[in-house]
Amino acid sequence: MKIPYMQMFCLIFIFFPTVISAADVSPGSTLYASNPQNSWDSTNGTFSLSFIQESENVYFAAIIYNGIPVWKAGGDPGGAVNSSAALRFLPDGNLQLVYTSTGFQVWQSNTAGRGVSMGALDDSGNFILRNRSGPVWTTFDNPTDTILPGQNFTVNQVLRSGLYSFRLSMSGNMTLRWNDTIEYYSSSGLNGSSVNSSLTSPSLGLQQPVGIFSLFDPTLSSPLIMARSNDYGEVTDDSIRFVKLDNDGNLRTYSSARNSGSGNRIVRWTAVSDQCLVFGYCGNMGICSYDDDFSPVCGCPSENFDLIDPKDPRKGCERTVNISNCSAREMLSLNRSTLLTYPPETSSQFYTASITACRSLCLSNNLCMGSTSLADGTGVCYLKLSQFISGYQSPTLTSTSYVKVCEPAMPNPPHSSREVHKNYDALKISVIVLGCCLILVILACLVWVFFYSRKPKFEGLPTWDSLSEYASALPVHFSYKELQQATKGFKDKLGEGGFGAVYQGVLTNKTLAAVKQLEGIEQGEKQFRMEVVTISSTHHLNLVRLLGFCSEGRHRLLVYEFMKNGSLDKFLFTSDEQPSKEVLNWGYRYNIALGTAKGITYLHEECRDCIVHSDIKPENILLDDNYNARISDFGLARLINTNGPRHRSIMSVRGTRGYLPPEWLANLPITSKADVYSYGMVLLEIISGRRNFDVSSETNHRRLSLWAYEEYEKGNIEAILDKRLLRHEVDTEQVIRAIRVSFWCIQEQPSHRPTMGKVVQMLEGISEIPTPPPFAATNPTAQFQVLPMVSSFQTVLNSSVTSSQTAENSSLTSEQKSERETSILLQEEASTT
Ligand SMILES: *[C@@H]1O[C@H](CO)[C@@H](O)[C@H](O)[C@H]1NC(C)=O
Ligand SMILES: *[C@@H]1O[C@H](CO)[C@@H](O)[C@H](O)[C@H]1NC(C)=O
Ligand SMILES: *[C@@H]1O[C@H](CO)[C@@H](O)[C@H](O)[C@H]1NC(C)=O
Ligand SMILES: *[C@@H]1O[C@H](CO)[C@@H](O)[C@H](O)[C@H]1NC(C)=O
Ligand SMILES: *[C@@H]1O[C@H](CO)[C@@H](O)[C@H](O)[C@H]1NC(C)=O
Ligand SMILES: *[C@@H]1O[C@H](CO)[C@@H](O)[C@H](O)[C@H]1NC(C)=O
Ligand SMILES: *[C@@H]1O[C@H](CO)[C@@H](O)[C@H](O)[C@H]1NC(C)=O
Ligand SMILES: *[C@@H]1O[C@H](CO)[C@@H](O)[C@H](O)[C@H]1NC(C)=O
Ligand SMILES: *[C@@H]1O[C@H](CO)[C@@H](O)[C@H](O)[C@H]1NC(C)=O
Ligand SMILES: *[C@@H]1O[C@H](CO)[C@@H](O)[C@H](O)[C@H]1NC(C)=O
Ligand SMILES: *[C@@H]1O[C@H](CO)[C@@H](O)[C@H](O)[C@H]1NC(C)=O
Repeated sequence: MKIPYMQMFCLIFIFFPTVISAADVSPGSTLYASNPQNSWDSTNGTFSLSFIQESENVYFAAIIYNGIPVWKAGGDPGGAVNSSAALRFLPDGNLQLVYTSTGFQVWQSNTAGRGVSMGALDDSGNFILRNRSGPVWTTFDNPTDTILPGQNFTVNQVLRSGLYSFRLSMSGNMTLRWNDTIEYYSSSGLNGSSVNSSLTSPSLGLQQPVGIFSLFDPTLSSPLIMARSNDYGEVTDDSIRFVKLDNDGNLRTYSSARNSGSGNRIVRWTAVSDQCLVFGYCGNMGICSYDDDFSPVCGCPSENFDLIDPKDPRKGCERTVNISNCSAREMLSLNRSTLLTYPPETSSQFYTASITACRSLCLSNNLCMGSTSLADGTGVCYLKLSQFISGYQSPTLTSTSYVKVCEPAMPNPPHSSREVHKNYDALKISVIVLGCCLILVILACLVWVFFYSRKPKFEGLPTWDSLSEYASALPVHFSYKELQQATKGFKDKLGEGGFGAVYQGVLTNKTLAAVKQLEGIEQGEKQFRMEVVTISSTHHLNLVRLLGFCSEGRHRLLVYEFMKNGSLDKFLFTSDEQPSKEVLNWGYRYNIALGTAKGITYLHEECRDCIVHSDIKPENILLDDNYNARISDFGLARLINTNGPRHRSIMSVRGTRGYLPPEWLANLPITSKADVYSYGMVLLEIISGRRNFDVSSETNHRRLSLWAYEEYEKGNIEAILDKRLLRHEVDTEQVIRAIRVSFWCIQEQPSHRPTMGKVVQMLEGISEIPTPPPFAATNPTAQFQVLPMVSSFQTVLNSSVTSSQTAENSSLTSEQKSERETSILLQEEASTT
């Protein structure tokens, strides 16, 4: 070991007689990664320049103190090389990191041709390349990730570690950034009042021996303290402190004693005390949290993601299904979490919005990958429109975040980050699991025995088990008692529809259901069952599904699937006692309008026994978990015995004020075009968020449709649109299309109205929409042209409006007539209650 060193020394001595110090390195010298023992040491041996192995076949040429690299040639990870690399001090004065096999240059000091005649590592850890007149290049001027005592860190220098960087600004601020943009840490050096000057050449340095990280500037009478090490002032021999930007993006001050063992160091100051607040710490889509030992751990938002590298969770997560080609997306909710946002992230949009709106705003925005709703009193919701998401989950956070995923969202099992470390725990768990299994098996046996023994009591009716087959066309026949139990004695009333009250129930298989108690049905049981079969065989994505029924004595009940989000009217209209739920954004509204149109089209045109709904209104449009429209109450009109004594109430049941077509009052046959009219009114309500029959100053004291048409003719689309939508992004083209469609649907002449199939095409933009004609023209009832009807569409109505009233109507203008309609209907309703 000593012999070659002596030989080299002699060679140097012979060829470069000026070199005398052992610390000096002369041009022509080389260090090899394959021989890390080779090193260029400082005079008293505190520091050395040599290769250091970080992991298998990953080496760095570094200045090392006590086994800790404090400067790396080429930086980290730029200067990472394999064992075939070498650090050459070339005769032209250039210091170069190359692969000896290929000659590929990884890094260079760029000092060729500047007369460099000597290199030396001094006792402060600074490697200096000198020419005859002085230093040409030093590692202190070209720092990588560490600031040593005596090192001057100036404005134009930068510490880097991976994607992270640390800089000092001219104003004296220290900043930490991710990918040179996202600034997640900023410390103000100049604290306003205390210093009245702009700095001229600020620099940062560790003051030895006290261990204070300070800001120096010629204009400052004394250095400004940026951070004290927690051991400041404690004089420790043989120990140095240094400031290092670690690869986790945090800036720390360390102290390390030379005799404490290789690599040993103690953290004395941490710039970002909450590591999870360091942007991108867990990579893209990574969620940072703390484990039981208070160490930060990285995981994925849900099981819709996989770790990119299970060996290194900090690399982030990738989706199991590419978001750009999944059929349906939804928002995964992460309780007590935040998606980090720091300046200058202009791609994150800030809103004041409710938590539900925060979720749906992101869902409807194609660019949005996630959103966070703060619960700090500001009501702020921000959308992450950038592709890179860095998350933080902690019991100390109050905000809720949403991450866009492909359906279905698969939340992480609780405590997935906590792994069972000890075999003892694993044993305990397996014993518990086995015990549970045994208990379950016994329970299952008991349940089976119970049902088996009770079966005869059901008198051959299908048992509740057959509910699992509800997807088949056959509806389940429930007994009245069963439904009484399911609804806890008809306790939770969901609403009161035209045909009777609706109650919430829970079926034996834990399915939620809506149970409708029909009133005024005087049909025989056989006929009732036939209609039920027809209704339940009507399956469509936009229709509420009938699960079963009950027909016992005078009881007639229908069991529907339960729609969590209730009916559309709750979202559209506000009243003082019942403020509307969250605001549905335009994307949802358009989807609901389209879904409703598709559902009605199916009823009219596509299903086997065609059905005129005849009571389309927002109350009958329910919304499922994903806010898809689901039409309810279809087919019920046929259950009513229209010749019965209660026909007055039928009038109010079968149609609802405001949604009734003019032909209704004219005592003319009702066709599927009646539904088109009602749909047109609903569509206008979806767009405007107003009841079509509410006359107010906002609509110039006229009915919504007439007023809207005028505004439309003036080109004043914004006036028609729900004001609550104006705050958000709205597809104006879609809005105009929808408005035009609604005007076509509410034409007075049924034959002028499009079919529902056509409506769908027009809404989707497949069909052109001609300019809708006005519908306020005088239009005597006598002139109604009713198209030849398909008999199954025909539902003849016994209107209570007399023909004399109709004749009277014919002399009025359309607007007067409309108002008259309303008053007649109001009388109707009053007389029935
Ligand atoms: C080291 O990397 C260089 C360049 O990538 C390659 O040519 C060489 O074969 C590698 N050597 C070893 C030992 O892996
Ligand atoms: C030594 O380096 C300095 C600074 O780079 C340069 O200005 C000077 O010309 C160099 N001297 C010689 C002899 O090359
Ligand atoms: C080496 O020199 C530095 C700087 O002069 C000094 O702080 C340190 O104590 C010395 N180390 C030894 C082992 O002499
Ligand atoms: C740091 O740099 C400033 C100006 O750039 C200089 O005045 C000061 O002496 C330097 N400090 C050290 C320790 O080199
Ligand atoms: C870092 O920023 C550059 C452009 O500034 C961008 O192209 C790159 O994708 C960013 N890196 C990551 C990981 O987002
Ligand atoms: C310096 O940091 C403070 C607070 O950390 C910040 O308010 C200020 O805007 C920053 N100044 C500059 C010039 O970046
Ligand atoms: C800034 O100065 C004010 C008063 O001079 C002091 O109260 C405050 O703590 C200072 N802030 C910092 C970060 O130094
Ligand atoms: C700060 O300095 C400017 C010019 O350097 C001077 O005009 C101003 O009066 C000073 N303010 C205070 C508070 O000293
Ligand atoms: C997802 O698909 C898009 C386009 O189909 C593609 O550009 C992107 O790279 C894909 N992303 C992943 C993670 O596969
Ligand atoms: C996504 O779409 C691309 C192109 O349309 C296709 O090649 C790829 O297989 C799809 N990926 C998945 C997971 O379906
Ligand atoms: C999230 O919070 C909601 C409301 O507090 C709660 O109902 C839900 O169970 C929570 N989800 C998880 C995964 O903890």
